Amino acid sequence: MSLVIEAEAPAAAFEVRPLSPNFAAEVIGLDLRQPLNEATRRAVYDAFVRYHVLAFRDQALTPEQQIAFTEQFGTLERHVASNRNSPHPLLHIVSNLGADGRPNGKVASQKWHTDKSFRPLPSLATILHAVTMPPNGGDTCFADMHAAYDALSDPEKAELDGVGVIHSWELSREKSGGKATAEEIADAPPMTHPLARTHPDTGRKGLFMGEHASHLDDRPMADGRARLAALEAHATQDRFLYRHHWRKGDLLMWDNRCLLHRADANFDAALYPRVLHRTCLRGTAPT
Ligand code: SIN
Repeated sequence: MSLVIEAEAPAAAFEVRPLSPNFAAEVIGLDLRQPLNEATRRAVYDAFVRYHVLAFRDQALTPEQQIAFTEQFGTLERHVASNRNSPHPLLHIVSNLGADGRPNGKVASQKWHTDKSFRPLPSLATILHAVTMPPNGGDTCFADMHAAYDALSDPEKAELDGVGVIHSWELSREKSGGKATAEEIADAPPMTHPLARTHPDTGRKGLFMGEHASHLDDRPMADGRARLAALEAHATQDRFLYRHHWRKGDLLMWDNRCLLHRADANFDAALYPRVLHRTCLRGTAPT
């Protein structure tokens, strides 16, 4: 009997070009409508871990193709809030359109956050695909939580190590003037995660906080909130940021384990539509 060993197909050729001196890179030459072979999938994941934000240029994925692309990297995560007009329960439509289909002047997700940090297994990655964008602006901004942690003094690192943060969907809705429904609260009870989180792929430490982070488990609520606000001000200084100016066809994939992000309403949101398709990948329990 002869043994046949099949050689693994080589990775497809693609280019990765840094978009800023700190992090983020653009990926040229891949058609994400097609499944990636294993070597290409690994090469994309390695670039994602290295650069934290990948901008795949010139893509045109249907919701089903975006879901299929996302699933190549793990398990899709569902969303808490209702998904009006979405063609699929695992795809979230990010938009400034009202019920009448016209721009309503409102831009969601403008506060610094990391997706689904209130879950026991917060998101590993978010994939956001531009569908309709304003002629200028409507940027997405990112802050590097590894660099922010590294820049803390040794006494500050010692103060934060071992401290837990309570992340809560209910409290974050309250902070932004909204109200979570009883169903949403039952679906996403408060969750405690380490403030100084270790990235599972690189072993680097980073701050894990943002909009859904309510308070700290080692001090009174008001003190914890003040400390979190000071840490966010530190972590979102220009030197830790990358601002993505969207181009038609962009598909972004970013690492929620070491970044905060937010939408910027730097366009006329009452005039221009801004519509993107979002999928999220479930992560692991932060340690
Ligand atoms: C998000 O926070 O997932 C959306 C960001 C954006 O709209 O730019």
